[in-house]
Amino acid sequence: MNRHYIAFTTPETADVTTDSAPTPGGGEVLVKVHHAGINRADVLQRLGLYPPPEDASPIPGLEVAGEVVAVGPECTHLQVGDRVCALTHGGGYASVAIAREDHCLTLPDTLTTEQGAALPEALLTVWYNVFERGRLAKGETVLIHGGSSGIGSIGVQMARMMGATVISTAGSSQRCEAVQALGARFVANHREDNLAAQFESAGFAGHVDVILDIAGGDLTQTNLDLAAPDGRIVCIGVMRGMQSEINLATLFMKRLTLTGSTLRRLETTERARCFGAIREHIWPSVVAGDIRPVVDQTYPLNAVLDAHEHMRLGTHFGKLVLDCQVV
Ligand SMILES: NC(=O)c1ccc[n+]([C@@H]2O[C@H](COP(=O)([O-])OP(=O)(O)OC[C@H]3O[C@@H](n4cnc5c(N)ncnc54)[C@H](OP(=O)(O)O)[C@@H]3O)[C@@H](O)[C@H]2O)c1
Repeated sequence: MNRHYIAFTTPETADVTTDSAPTPGGGEVLVKVHHAGINRADVLQRLGLYPPPEDASPIPGLEVAGEVVAVGPECTHLQVGDRVCALTHGGGYASVAIAREDHCLTLPDTLTTEQGAALPEALLTVWYNVFERGRLAKGETVLIHGGSSGIGSIGVQMARMMGATVISTAGSSQRCEAVQALGARFVANHREDNLAAQFESAGFAGHVDVILDIAGGDLTQTNLDLAAPDGRIVCIGVMRGMQSEINLATLFMKRLTLTGSTLRRLETTERARCFGAIREHIWPSVVAGDIRPVVDQTYPLNAVLDAHEHMRLGTHFGKLVLDCQVV
């Protein structure tokens, strides 16, 4: 079997290249990719700003959905023909991709592969950062920055479903309303100057137990100010800058925790453990339709540069997806 995949020979060149399909190793499956999710990290990888880890596939693409076409040794539950969505260790922008069996979720008939491809990265990122590192508990208040993003649109729904009061941010009044429709109690506009004041007048300043920060920079001090005593702030992105000047007194006066992580560097076993927790706590709500992937637009695989430009412009709401059946 051949594999067609995208190679970014230069940052502005996406070549469709062909080689032999890889053979799944122990605990791995080969997925015929129907759709692949697009992530901001893919754009950075294309630009040479976020090289993949040494043990990862150099082919871009961190999440896929499709059909299992080969099963490696030591797999225990997936079979050829199963419909899955999966996190990959790179290699998703392709006609077939390798995934670990324990990094797959079985797709219900109610979800298309287009919707499935929008889920693994967001589910895992939110689960690990909000519920594990941030220890969000039922009844607490969580601020998910960027509720309009691929990550945030799922995060708002997950946190609401787990019994938290969810507040969020987005970049226009229309986008704020759309995030409210996903289940956020209050959404502030991050493009207006007075972000902290917006939360203050809504009664949330000083009462936020967990904050998922996707932007960093000057947002860090705002987060520290909004946090409740013993609050947890988890930073996963730096769209507003890698450097922050913060008032450390805010940290110790309120006993705050400031932490972060990047999924690409999380150990394989940790990812598998998180998928186990997602299967137990979150996936039943996805199957029931209570948590819905938000797909803005789907592009053919060979139009990947157009899709990346769409993401760079930031006009999408939710996820952008590639159709890998059209090469
Ligand atoms: N560490 C990890 O493991 C990990 C994993 C996945 C993603 N991430 C990071 O999480 C972030 C979201 O990823 P994604 O793929 O979901 O991206 P995305 O869909 O492109 O969403 C970007 C989000 O950022 C908001 N935004 C843009 N500029 C902003 C600013 N200056 N201040 C505040 N918010 C701003 C956008 O809001 P509007 O469009 O409404 O203005 C939108 O909600 C990225 O930074 C990504 O690198 C990290």
